[in-house]
Amino acid sequence: MTTIIDGKAVAASIIGAIKGANAALRAQTGKKTGLAVIIVGDDPASHAYVGAKSRMAKECGFFSVQHTLPKETTQDQLAALVHKLNGDDGIHGILVQLPLPQHLDAETIIQSIRPEKDVDGLHVANAGKLATGDLKTGLISCTPAGAMVFVSRVHGRDLSGLNAVVIGRSNLFGKPMAQLLLNANATVTIAHSRTKDLSSICHNADILVAAVGRPEMVKAEWVKPGATVIDVGINRVAAPEKGENNTKLVGDVALAECAPVASVITPVPGGVGPMTIAMLMANSVIAAHRATS
Ligand code: GUN
Repeated sequence: MTTIIDGKAVAASIIGAIKGANAALRAQTGKKTGLAVIIVGDDPASHAYVGAKSRMAKECGFFSVQHTLPKETTQDQLAALVHKLNGDDGIHGILVQLPLPQHLDAETIIQSIRPEKDVDGLHVANAGKLATGDLKTGLISCTPAGAMVFVSRVHGRDLSGLNAVVIGRSNLFGKPMAQLLLNANATVTIAHSRTKDLSSICHNADILVAAVGRPEMVKAEWVKPGATVIDVGINRVAAPEKGENNTKLVGDVALAECAPVASVITPVPGGVGPMTIAMLMANSVIAAHRATS
């Protein structure tokens, strides 16, 4: 029997603990966790994600501010806002939603966030800590941290002897995911758009993680029988079966055909997605505790 992981339920239990940590912070210091989320432009999917993050921050009892900037915002204007938030004692976490409009240099903006407030774990100081095996003193990128919670629940914390394949090499997901798996002693392969014979590489994976942004790319034949399959893709596709002009969300894994082959699989929606938000809240409350202790 295949287990389909209920990401909403796992995320809800983490959110319960975060509410408690935020309440403890308030009791000890009189302060709330402060999270600032910045969004530039009007991409509807980004607005939906940011809205969900801001709402969850409020639900956790945080001081939550959302800065919604027009798409014409200049590099200097955005840099000035980050600079102001860096110096604001009431703000412990800063998230700049990606992608930014093309005229903006996202990397420079991300690197200008104070590492202690970089709740996305994208600053080189945080990425470097993860790369060198320090998982304690920095902040770890939220989606891989969330995916890793699922992996640990299935396999425990020691992945010795297991082959893990991560499809995707982004700074936001693929690279930190591979490092987390490696740190847990898995034998890790990072595959990407230039990889040859992807299906046979995937077929060797005890843990297969897909983060490429290609709807239902991973097919049943790619999956090793009994594997754990983590789907990080969120793709909006046409859904003619729901009527004309209707759409639906699917992952990078063809769920219906892969589920019977896998032993554990995450659905889209309702798998990794809710965990990203939960881990953002976790990073924020960690940053607040560190700033106030
Ligand atoms: N865009 C899509 N996912 C993310 C994320 O986890 N963080 C940020 N900053 N932008 C994103």
